[in-house]
Parts: sequence; structure tokens; C-alpha cells
Amino acid sequence: MEQTRRNLLKSITALAGGTMLPLEGQSQVTTDPIDSKKGDPIDLSEIVNLFDFEKMAEGKMTKMAYEYVASGAADEFTVRWNRQALDTIKLNPTVLTDVTKLDTSVSLFGHTSPSPILIAPTAFHKIMHPEGELATARGASAASTIYVVSSFTTTPIEEIAKVATQPLWFQLYVRDDRAFTKDVVQKAESQGCRALCVTVDTPVSGARNRQQRVKFKLPENVNAPYMVSLGPQKTPLTWKDIEWLKSFAKIPVLVKGVLNPDDAERAIQSGVSGIIVSNHSGRNLDTVPATIEALPRIAAKVNKRVPILMDGGIRRGTDVLKAIALGANAVLVGKPICFGLACGGAEGVAKVLSILKYEFELAMALTGKASIASIDSSVIWK
Ligand code: FNR
Repeated sequence: MEQTRRNLLKSITALAGGTMLPLEGQSQVTTDPIDSKKGDPIDLSEIVNLFDFEKMAEGKMTKMAYEYVASGAADEFTVRWNRQALDTIKLNPTVLTDVTKLDTSVSLFGHTSPSPILIAPTAFHKIMHPEGELATARGASAASTIYVVSSFTTTPIEEIAKVATQPLWFQLYVRDDRAFTKDVVQKAESQGCRALCVTVDTPVSGARNRQQRVKFKLPENVNAPYMVSLGPQKTPLTWKDIEWLKSFAKIPVLVKGVLNPDDAERAIQSGVSGIIVSNHSGRNLDTVPATIEALPRIAAKVNKRVPILMDGGIRRGTDVLKAIALGANAVLVGKPICFGLACGGAEGVAKVLSILKYEFELAMALTGKASIASIDSSVIWK
């Protein structure tokens, strides 16, 4: 474990590199980590971008776990559109501005994070790596990143809180048993979680055909302590529940899964502290638009009254830049974290975050934007 931790720190220092951008062609990857479980070396040295993680993870994960992570709903149009929409946005750089010092920090609910990239809540990390959410938390902490823990964590929140040295947020699925829901929120608060992301786009789960084909279920030895059924609800989740949560939550409440500007307005009227534009990575309702397409309308409606976060298909530093240019304060990444975890535990998670942050710094420097505040829609080619 010590060896892993040492290498983790070494790789983060080498790769994340603060604001000092390396010269073109200079090697970024100096890791030679050891898998603490098996004692086998984990070789992440061939990995240079986030897509490489998925290829490597496919060979390392069980078919059931890989299909669970990689798949979307139905025909996966939205999964593809998330990427295509980001890819087709062109950038409009400015030259001859001083980009020797870059400020990538962002302030969210009183905490200044060195990066506008957060870990999205994803379920069941123990099916991806034996250390599960503990490895995710260690990787997030090594990369100075906020980790949003899923309601469907396979590790109790108090254990995750013990190893995390960076802020945790908690994602909440509200189900029929409201007393249990309240207990879970209060447990998350007591363990120091700093924000609550209430997922509002999943009254039922989507038509997840690829999961059906592999007959997805949790292995016997893996359990999710806060999980309740995802079947149709007897007591539906409505705006009243957001007000109910607000009535006792001591931490900021965000709604996750908004695509419609009218819902964003309603959320603000219900007193939320932030909005997460998300289509659940195309896992619920297929053929909804890419989140980057929905974002500008929501940003216009919200008009800076509360912070906006966005996820869905963020894989490149240029994607982070585009999301911020179109109105997001920060972004979250889901699948790449799962694949990084599967490839190399904490080391893999940290490397996903380091590569993305590093690419974001490159994108800022190459478009002539030295700070997040200076990134606006002028960086988009119209
Ligand atoms: C998710 N997502 C999700 N969201 C949530 O609110 N609670 C959850 O438990 C999960 N679980 C989950 C599992 C897996 C395997 C994936 C891929 C996604 C959605 C997640 O928070 C986020 O919205 C998307 O993953 C972001 O898109 P990308 O980065 O995965 O394209």
C-alpha cells in the first residue's frame, strides 16, 4: 500500500504539474505503480488520453461490469450525441496573451477547488476494483478533486470519509421510504459531505438493453448499503420533496439531471443552491439532446443566480473549456473514472483526473485564456 501511495503522489506531482505546462514532446508519464492487491505491476504508461482507459479496462473488467459501465439506454443515440456535439464545436483562439500563469481554480459553495473537474456519482465501484470507493476517494484526493459519492456506493460513507483528504459531496436517490432517506442525508452530513446532489432524472431506470443482455446483477459479496429498489415509486418524487429536503438539509442542495430551462427555473424557485445539467450519460431516456446542447439555454435562464455544473461525454480538456464557455461553472466525469478505477485503482483514477486537468490547461493556454473567469462564449467559433 505504501508503495502505491508513494507512486501515486509521484505521478500526480509529475503529471498534474500545477500551472507549469511542459514543453511540447516532453514526457508526461513517469508512473511505475504496483497493484497493492495482486502485487503485479500496473502499467499505465501506454495511456495518454481518457479513451485509452476504456480500451484497457475492457480487457480487465468482467463482461458484466464492463457492460454496466459502458452502456447507455436503448439505441444509445444520446450516448453518441454527448460526444458528437462536443466534437463539432470549434474553438476560436486568441493569440499573444500572457498564459505563463494559469488559474484553474473555481469556488463552489465556499470551497475553492484547484480544478473545475469533479468526479460524477457512479454506482457499485467494487465491481470495477476490489478496493471500490476507497480507491476512488484516494485517487480523487491525490488529484485534489471533489468526489461526489453515489447513493449506490458499495462502501459505507464513513469508511470513504476516513480516507478522503479532499471534499466529498453526496448524491441522493430519494425513494419511497422518506425516513430512511432522511437518515442517509444526515449520515452523509455527519461524515462531512459538503453538498447534496439530488438525482431527479430517474423516476424509473431507462431501457438498458445491454445490461439486460448480460443479466446484470451485483455479485454475492458486494452490497450497496443505501440502495433501495429502482422500480416505479409508490410515493413519487416531486418538487415538494426538494422543499422537504431543503427544510432539514444543512448543506447546499443541488438537483442533478436537468435539461429543461423551465425545470431550472422551478428548481431555483424551490431554493436549490445549484443545478447539474445531465442526461445521466444517456443511460435513462434515449434521444434527449447532448448536455452541451442543453447547457446554453439553461445558463440563459439561470443567469448566474446559482452555479451550474454539467456532465455527459466530457473526455478532453477542450470539452471542459467548451462547457465553461457555454455557461458551466464546473464539469463532472463519470465513465472515465470507472475505467480508470478498473485499470489501476486509485492510481488509475488519479491519472484520469491528471490527464484531463492537464489537457484543460493546454486548452486554456492555446486559446489565450489565463483564468476560468476569462473563458466566455468568445472562445467558441461562430
Ligand atoms: C452513473 N450515473 C449515476 N448518476 C447518479 O446520480 N447516481 C448514480 O448512482 C449513477 N451511477 C452511474 C453509474 C455508471 C456506471 C455511470 C456511467 C453513470 C450518472 C453519472 O453521475 C453522470 O451523470 C454521467 O456518468 C456523466 O457522463 P459521462 O462522463 O459518464 O459521460
